[in-house]
Amino acid sequence: MRVFVTRRLPGGALDRLAAEHDVEVWPEQLPPGKRELMARAPELEGWLSLLTDPVDAELIGAAPRLRAISNYAVGVDNVDLEAAAERGIPVGNTPGVLTDTTADLAVALMLGISRHLAEGDAYVRRGEWRTWETGLLLGHDLHGATVGIVGFGRIGKAVARRLEGFDCEVLHTSRNGGVPLDELLERSDFVSVHAPLTAETRGLIGADALGRMKPTAYLVNTARGPIVDTDALVRALHAGQIAGAALDVTDPEPLPAGHPLLEAPNLLVLPHLGSATHATRERMADMAVENLLAGLAGRHMPHEVTLRA
Ligand code: DGY
Repeated sequence: MRVFVTRRLPGGALDRLAAEHDVEVWPEQLPPGKRELMARAPELEGWLSLLTDPVDAELIGAAPRLRAISNYAVGVDNVDLEAAAERGIPVGNTPGVLTDTTADLAVALMLGISRHLAEGDAYVRRGEWRTWETGLLLGHDLHGATVGIVGFGRIGKAVARRLEGFDCEVLHTSRNGGVPLDELLERSDFVSVHAPLTAETRGLIGADALGRMKPTAYLVNTARGPIVDTDALVRALHAGQIAGAALDVTDPEPLPAGHPLLEAPNLLVLPHLGSATHATRERMADMAVENLLAGLAGRHMPHEVTLRA
């Protein structure tokens, strides 16, 4: 079957796919544009997509032979799940394998922003470090802090487990329980976002939410950029309404040079590296290929996304 893979994947998973199907792998660094995707759509039977590909209703509609979509991510907000479901096209994702890797990074961001790791590194490299100083780059402790986890799925829980080792008080809020969001925001020294991007969570951390946070608190986002209202965050950082933000994900993504967020103080920003370790990215590739092989063979995908009511 004709399969399009929209970027090279690490490890040997694509060899297994190519052994069974007619596979085209997009060779560029940047994702294929809409025109390239539309050009392939009429013949496409399997699509291994990345979170940077808009798998929207128009593309799905232009692909009458499409039988399976496998997204190389746990998040599927880039896929129009309803359009796929209407056509009976299964959609796969890669849950579980990136949980611990992403949780590790969330904790690294908490430490990175509260202990000034990026500023310290830049300070040394600029040659400004002249002596040990009592007041140089003082930060705030993660150990013993109250950490609020927004979204208590696999990754949120993995972060909570790590924070036990830091003697933190962990609060959480989710669809299924925990404390109310407002209480979490008001009590936390760190607010860490781990919810999926849905209509419900888009803009969840906006001006009101940021206004409820303590002026000494940090915001960490390793989930999806649009859960945080970027303009509101820029204003909050400039106004000193919160102590800082550490973002692995942003809205927009990537941030263009000169974007106002990049001018904001007390910001640590990474290029969406949550799952970026060799082992995890290879496991994601294995899982995405297993999903696609199953879907193309008409079998239930090992990790198939079901639409939530
Ligand atoms: C995912 O899988 O959704 C992550 O954002 C990739 O790191």
